[in-house]
Amino acid sequence: MENFEFFNPTRIIFGRDTEKKIGKILEKDDVEKVLFVYGKSSIKETGLYDKVVESLKKEGIEFIEHGGVKPNPVLSHTKEGIEKAKKYKVDAVLAVGGGSVIDEGKTIAVGAKTNKEVWDFFRRKREIKKALPVYVILTLAATGSEMNGFAVITNEETKEKLSISSEHIFPRVSILNPELTFTVSKQYQAYAAVDVLAHVIEYYFSGQYCPNLQNRLIESIIKTVMETTEIILNEPHHYNARAEFMWASTIALNGLTRLGIKGGEFPNHMIAHSLGAIYDLPHGACLSIVIPAWMKWYKDKNRTQFERFAKEIFNANTAEEGIDNLKAWFKKIGAPVSFKDAGVPEKDMDIIVDNAYNIAVVWDMAQKYTREVLTEILKNAKD
Ligand code: NZQ
Ligand code: ZN
Repeated sequence: MENFEFFNPTRIIFGRDTEKKIGKILEKDDVEKVLFVYGKSSIKETGLYDKVVESLKKEGIEFIEHGGVKPNPVLSHTKEGIEKAKKYKVDAVLAVGGGSVIDEGKTIAVGAKTNKEVWDFFRRKREIKKALPVYVILTLAATGSEMNGFAVITNEETKEKLSISSEHIFPRVSILNPELTFTVSKQYQAYAAVDVLAHVIEYYFSGQYCPNLQNRLIESIIKTVMETTEIILNEPHHYNARAEFMWASTIALNGLTRLGIKGGEFPNHMIAHSLGAIYDLPHGACLSIVIPAWMKWYKDKNRTQFERFAKEIFNANTAEEGIDNLKAWFKKIGAPVSFKDAGVPEKDMDIIVDNAYNIAVVWDMAQKYTREVLTEILKNAKD
């Protein structure tokens, strides 16, 4: 096992009706005024908006609204939020939604505490030194953003989708009520499942050594995600399936699964972000296209682990069968597995490669992921 440090300061409050506690939680932390960040319409349709407002009002917490966050949140809207946070001098950010809302909320929390250009943090030109405290009510289990120090934003002008990583943006408290995810559509549930699997398999495959404890933890998450997703797609209101899926998605990217692994990178995310940036496709849909293509390219570099995956997850014998089975499962749940499926024109290959290469440079992975390598991988995703 490799040496590691582990730090995760997020308090999780899990279970039915927990969203009603938000007012009290903020009041206990001496928060008097929050920026209330949310998405396009779902929290108003489900009634969650009213519940949050009631809980805030009950405790006398003032709130400034910043709604309209779009999936794949963009820099311009984030900057509007930063302006509001500064103008109204809020004490904290309250993000109510999925990964996009949380990530925009985290970025606003950073921007509110600096006069520097916030995009510089994404281009890794500056280090984040402070941020407003972030509180979360999660409505879509997928990204793990509710318990990690990452945020992903798209600069729609330059078509760059980049991330920040900082101890300062771990949410202070995240409320996870599985019932709030009952209304997530089948399509987004499929994308969410792909995303959670992606979070655990990146290190599992690309690491040079993975301790057995971590292997088994990761395989347990994979099996749980696959089983619960099948239940959820048939029975969207199945509490225990939603609950297990939700917790699996949180621990998939809260730091636990990568501990003790030697090496390890996030190449599938790197490539997927380029598809997200150019075509504004949902994150999980970008991943279901990239993962089988990357696996095909990478399998001989870590054959033992690919064979282990095939055996453990699909009771299959070869690395190739493992990949085929995973691709078939993505298809079965309704996620695209090729450019063709997602309507991405093949003629755009060079544009996608350039975009992914730019991310590789920022992420310090360009030596391995050259334009030639990226082209080779992406060719596997044509159909
Ligand atoms: O905007 P509203 O109306 O709220 O609708 C959303 C949105 O259309 C809807 N939705 C959310 N909760 C719902 C619901 N619909 C019905 N019922 C509910 N309870 O779902 C749609 C998608 O929401 P979004 O937040 O975009 O999805 P997700 O949670 O998958 O977040 C994706 C974003 O997170 C980034 C992705 O790149 C992408 O930008 N990621 C963030 C990470 C992190 N911070 O750690 C890691 C990930 O790898 C990922 O990159
Ligand atoms: Zn992801």
